[in-house]
Amino acid sequence: MQVHTQFDLSSLNTLHLRSSAEHFVDLSSPETLQSLLNDPSLRKLRWNILGGGSNLVLPAMVQGLVLKISNQGKELVHEDANFWFVKVQAGENWHEFVQWTLQNGYWGLENLSLIPGTAGAAPIQNIGAYGVEVKDTLWEVSCFDLHSGTLKNFLNKECQFAYRDSFFKNAGAGKYIVWDVTFRLPKKNTLHLEYGDIKKELERKQAAATPRSIAEAVIHIRQTKLPDPKVIGNAGSFFKNPIVSEQQRNLLLQQFPNLVSFPYQTGEYKLAAGWLIDQAGWKGKKLGPVGMYEKQALVLVNHGGAAADDVWKLAAEVVSDVKNKFAVQIDPEPIRW
Ligand code: EPU
Repeated sequence: MQVHTQFDLSSLNTLHLRSSAEHFVDLSSPETLQSLLNDPSLRKLRWNILGGGSNLVLPAMVQGLVLKISNQGKELVHEDANFWFVKVQAGENWHEFVQWTLQNGYWGLENLSLIPGTAGAAPIQNIGAYGVEVKDTLWEVSCFDLHSGTLKNFLNKECQFAYRDSFFKNAGAGKYIVWDVTFRLPKKNTLHLEYGDIKKELERKQAAATPRSIAEAVIHIRQTKLPDPKVIGNAGSFFKNPIVSEQQRNLLLQQFPNLVSFPYQTGEYKLAAGWLIDQAGWKGKKLGPVGMYEKQALVLVNHGGAAADDVWKLAAEVVSDVKNKFAVQIDPEPIRW
């Protein structure tokens, strides 16, 4: 096991923020984890778990130990008349895993193509796109308990999934390392075409709706709307879509007839934060080295050389302008270390 010190993290976070880890270990096996837990000087440090770094805002110096989860592997573990059970190790790239399921004829994750990050990070914020969330097909998550060093399984309902949220972001935060994730994919596949531009894109290509054509449509839509982190630093949607009461939504609608909103739970609506930020004048606008993306106002981009302070300064201005205009609070989606 190699423990690095003052390790550069700028290429390990998709916002490409300047950042270093006080201590850094690449974690690809349970044996390495046991060695870490058996070392009192490492054990007493603050542990920070890093996946694909695509939903994080890193400070210039991360205190303690950064563990980059890089265990690999994906397999069909079980199959019955109705389902495929597919297991993926946490360090696998999410998009490559989704494409692997499709190549093997296992459907259900196609709408989640091209989401950046690792498979292990997927349940933490219950990733979702185009009408599908990880919680819809997730069967169980195996985690190492950082206190006892033993494996613990969490079934879907124990993960307490909600919109971009789970147990692992709340009561479980800092207590577990997600080690592998098992999906239960129904053989009788229901295709999800209702959200956004999927239908339009299939019509444009004159393609029949199949899991593969949906994956291709999603990839195309994402590539046209969202900046590629390899080209321009970003963390996907920077804000969550706020959830408001039906009453508040109706009042807003009187004042702003073009308001974009979707029914959420009974008596609640989800507002499109991208629309709110756009209307507040932030689409394509810069503040120092950062800005809100010109094609999708919900995405905060690093035009080069930014640090966490630049990100939070811009985020605070956007939050405040949206609040002043609409009296709606929007909250950041990425996790702040
Ligand atoms: N809109 C604007 N101006 C903008 C951006 C959006 O008016 O600059 C309007 C759009 O016209 C549309 C509405 O806002 O009517 C919603 O936009 P979009 O369909 O692009 O989706 P979103 O709500 O912005 C969410 C997820 C994305 C996910 C897409 C597709 C959140 C916070 N974001 O975005 O997830 O890919 O739906 O399902 O829920 C992510 O979490 O990192 C992410 C990219």
